[in-house]
Amino acid sequence: MKVVSPKYCRTAARLAKLLERQLAGRRYLILTDETVSDCCLTHLGDFMSEFPPLDIVEVDSGEACKQYDVVVELWKHLLELNITRVDVIICVGGGSITDLGGFIASTYKRGIPFMYIPTTLLAMTDAAIGGKNGIDFQDVKNAIGTINQPEAILIHKPFLQALPEVQFQSGMAEVIKHGVIQGGQLWQRLKAESSSKSDITDDVLKMSIKTKIAIVGKDLYEKDLRKVLNFGHSIGHALESWFLSKETPLEHGFSVAIGMLIESSLAAEMGLLNHADLLEIRSVIIAYLGIDTLSIPNWNEVRPFLMNDKKFSGGRMLFALPMGIGKVAPSVIVEEALVEWVYSKAVI
Ligand SMILES: NC(=O)c1ccc[n+]([C@@H]2O[C@H](COP(=O)([O-])OP(=O)(O)OC[C@H]3O[C@@H](n4cnc5c(N)ncnc54)[C@H](O)[C@@H]3O)[C@@H](O)[C@H]2O)c1
Repeated sequence: MKVVSPKYCRTAARLAKLLERQLAGRRYLILTDETVSDCCLTHLGDFMSEFPPLDIVEVDSGEACKQYDVVVELWKHLLELNITRVDVIICVGGGSITDLGGFIASTYKRGIPFMYIPTTLLAMTDAAIGGKNGIDFQDVKNAIGTINQPEAILIHKPFLQALPEVQFQSGMAEVIKHGVIQGGQLWQRLKAESSSKSDITDDVLKMSIKTKIAIVGKDLYEKDLRKVLNFGHSIGHALESWFLSKETPLEHGFSVAIGMLIESSLAAEMGLLNHADLLEIRSVIIAYLGIDTLSIPNWNEVRPFLMNDKKFSGGRMLFALPMGIGKVAPSVIVEEALVEWVYSKAVI
């Protein structure tokens, strides 16, 4: 399966043109969430009035839509509309919508075509790329899902104008992760541009996307290299799941950013990351996300969520850890006692 690279659309007219070409007269349905429907669908207004969708399906905004009961309702709805394998689902939204929509399309009738139009920074640079989709189950993040490629990914940066600051910061966490993995120009630009917090330049956006594509292009099924993208995610997902279980969700990017701070400290503690690089990673994360104190649960509360991670067994855990700027090791074995010690030091 080939990884799909996004196409960039500077204007709504260009977006419409690419959609028209991609759909080529086929029936399509839009899956979106209530917020995106209000603030982003206008960008598709002209296109939709000329080529009306079969339906616009709105689900609850945010992580709340990545649930089994939502999936069941959507499967039922697709059957009622008699959606077949020649029709297309267009997922317009953030990572929650691309994860949900990609999963629905991949499972309904053994898979029907789907496209992504990401509207958050996080979805543009990360969630829409690489084919992973899925839903949460029993308080476990992304417990059920598939790896499958959309037909097309269309990036229209003007969607970001409506994005709240907190969602922008959340997206920057994955861009920073790409910067640590890639190093070079992306990292230099991130360091230099940290004062213009609420905007991202086209160059940085494209470099971040390119980093993800280069990695998943070489290892789509996460046999080895793709694991570097898990930097910050082992601790991050456990925290995100814990906050979800308390019904006080923490944005994905903030969870990952805290995960990157703790996992970088772990790498430094193990002698893998030098102090100067540790400080650089910390200062970039703090500059963009403003995290200075970490109000996180204690180790005993978060440990059960970490145990759900498929990389945890026999008192040891596999982490993707930074060994420098531009160098992340995909699978480092760490003793649980050390993880607990470093994690506990981070709790205030
Ligand atoms: N599949 C993958 O490879 C992958 C990678 C990273 C993250 N993810 C998943 O992505 C999800 C997080 O995605 P997200 O951060 O995009 O959040 P999200 O999709 O939950 O959206 C966050 C909020 O922003 C709103 N929103 C979206 N676009 C907007 C816009 N342009 N203007 C104003 N509001 C807008 C949404 O309605 C929602 O309320 C998580 O579930 C995470 O697990 C998946």
